[in-house]
Amino acid sequence: MSKSAVRSKNDAKSKSKKGKSKDKKRKQQPKHRFTAANADKFLLYQLSVNSADIDVDFLEKVYEEHNPGKTPLHLREDFCGTHAMCAEWVKRDAARTAEGYDLDPEPVEWGKQHNLSPLGDEAASRVALYLEDARNDGRKTPDIRVAQNFSYWLFMKRAELLDYFRKVYASLDEGGLFVCDLYGGTESTEDMEEERKIDGGFTYVWDQDEYLPGTAQFTCHIHFRFRDGSELEKAFTYVWRKWGMAELKDLLAEAGFPVVKSYFEGEDEDDPEEGDGNFEYDEEGENCESWIAYLVCRK
Ligand SMILES: C[S@@+](CC[C@H](N)C(=O)[O-])C[C@H]1O[C@@H](n2cnc3c(N)ncnc32)[C@H](O)[C@@H]1O
Repeated sequence: MSKSAVRSKNDAKSKSKKGKSKDKKRKQQPKHRFTAANADKFLLYQLSVNSADIDVDFLEKVYEEHNPGKTPLHLREDFCGTHAMCAEWVKRDAARTAEGYDLDPEPVEWGKQHNLSPLGDEAASRVALYLEDARNDGRKTPDIRVAQNFSYWLFMKRAELLDYFRKVYASLDEGGLFVCDLYGGTESTEDMEEERKIDGGFTYVWDQDEYLPGTAQFTCHIHFRFRDGSELEKAFTYVWRKWGMAELKDLLAEAGFPVVKSYFEGEDEDDPEEGDGNFEYDEEGENCESWIAYLVCRK
């Protein structure tokens, strides 16, 4: 897999800070920074999967493309988890605000401490978080609304997903964007595990455990393996429906969006197995082993 959950564009960002500390200091540090015993699964997830800076770059680029000269100010992040995108959004501009929706208090609390707090009180105060269903009405009309890391795949029935997309459409003003990501490719429903080493000293494992072709029910896990031999098994489990791009485009059009465009990630020049973090408009895509893409929908 899966430049998808693998999100290879993240790799280049975390640089090792080796070599700065004196020998004495080095001796005092634990041999292995990350182990199953000390693991913070949200930190490991964020280091492996999230790339909020690249995601927000993309939002800014496509908003300008679809609304030249207009400035987007309010972002709504559905299924926000640790709300890394909300934090990155407000960090870039003091006029910006964001709201995040997630049912689970645990990642939301973690995000407050680790993603919002470092921004300082003023910027943090421009993010409103709600422990609510992503289908609930928002408090403020978003210029851009996002559903990231395939979260909307938890809607397994066509009618359920269409209902969500209709609510998204209704929540936007004319010109407003809905942006969601997806992945696919010939390997994307195979039972397989893919490992990726993360800077800092652990291995991220994307485990495509079971795909049922009759329903497209797709069960995946994330495991983390550490240099000391320990493992955090099933740190995260997802039971999704594996939606295809063409059926999603149809559903989004049916929900009302007059413009639904696909943007596929380019290949890394040095390693064609990896993505380069650049997403370009492409209506058709290429039938490779693994691809990752955004759908950008304009009201
Ligand atoms: C795959 S995680 C994605 C988190 C985040 N978007 C990211 O990119 O890291 C899915 C999130 O959706 C949340 N969730 C599940 N069902 C939900 C619902 N109906 N409404 C809002 N959040 C939901 C879960 O609690 C979880 O945090």
